[in-house]
Amino acid sequence: HEADAMRTDLMTLTRYVLNEQSKHPESTGDYTILLAHIVLGCKFVCSAVNKAGLASLVGLAGDTNIQGEEQKKMDVLSNEVFVKALVSSHRTCILVSEEDEEATFVDPALRGRYCVVFDPLDGSSNIDCGVSIGTIFGIYMVDDPNNISLNDVLQPGKNMVAAGYCMYGSSCTLVLSSGNGVNGFTLDPSLGEFILTHPDIKIPPKGKIYSVNEGNAKNWDNPTAKYVEKCKYPTDGPPKSLRYIGSMVADIHRTLLYGGIFLYPADQKNPNGKLRVLYEVFPMSFLIEKAGGQAFTGKIRALDLIPEHIHARSPVFLGSCDDVEELKELYAAEK
Ligand code: AHG
Ligand code: MN
Ligand code: MN
Ligand code: MN
Repeated sequence: HEADAMRTDLMTLTRYVLNEQSKHPESTGDYTILLAHIVLGCKFVCSAVNKAGLASLVGLAGDTNIQGEEQKKMDVLSNEVFVKALVSSHRTCILVSEEDEEATFVDPALRGRYCVVFDPLDGSSNIDCGVSIGTIFGIYMVDDPNNISLNDVLQPGKNMVAAGYCMYGSSCTLVLSSGNGVNGFTLDPSLGEFILTHPDIKIPPKGKIYSVNEGNAKNWDNPTAKYVEKCKYPTDGPPKSLRYIGSMVADIHRTLLYGGIFLYPADQKNPNGKLRVLYEVFPMSFLIEKAGGQAFTGKIRALDLIPEHIHARSPVFLGSCDDVEELKELYAAEK
């Protein structure tokens, strides 16, 4: 009757986090409240992506709706929702979003101890054709919210206290690590609750998939080119399959569950690659490491990077431990 118990004893995300927090007598409940506000943002974006409330949302970005109003681009709309939810949680002091050039310093009267860095809508090229997109977030903590500066977020990713993403796909899935272990929750739309469906995710030690935008191959450096060549023409086993969605959230979600490697390398035109350190590279590297994988920049462990500015970029290679190890050896041999 275990299945029966599962059906009637629902482990919601809130309940899960409360349970975890109760193991730490010093915890204040602030983290639970912060997460509830992030979850609200995710539910809003999920509903918007599914075109709930069609009348006001239908139409592509830039179009004009029936009321003659300009449609807000989905990424701009999502950003507004997250910023407002995070500020009104009264638990944040600094926000960094892909969509805002400058960091937001929360009004001192509304401040709390958390800094949240986020990509409100990831995979923008996939929005208008219904392919999976997502939200990515990372969380830092400060000692004194009355004495903060940008340096509180220009911190190596290993200093994050939590990170996660929500994927708006065939179902809405939120994957979270609060520092130990990685858990996946699926939104039950009839309840409006995220239910624990993927407890303690561990990435397979080796995978059969590589994931990279091969259209950039002519500009790759040697180690990346060699690695991808080995994926296609291995001397010691079957070739790997290629899967590339072009939404980091979806590509990383598959990598976490099935194993393999995701690459966004540097190239001659983009010496720092494309992905942003604070709100793309760090949260994903945090999750991959907590699930037993590795994340590498081509030079160092990704979580050791110190971003020079809030929108700084870095090449990144992340995934199954053995696959990333193989790539690291190629970079080491290049030196
Ligand atoms: P965003 O939509 O938030 O700007 O991020 C886009 C990123 C990421 O989702 C994806 O991994 C990458 O862009 C894809 O880039 P290419 O189109 O260059 O492959
Ligand atoms: Mn992105
Ligand atoms: Mn984005
Ligand atoms: Mn973008």
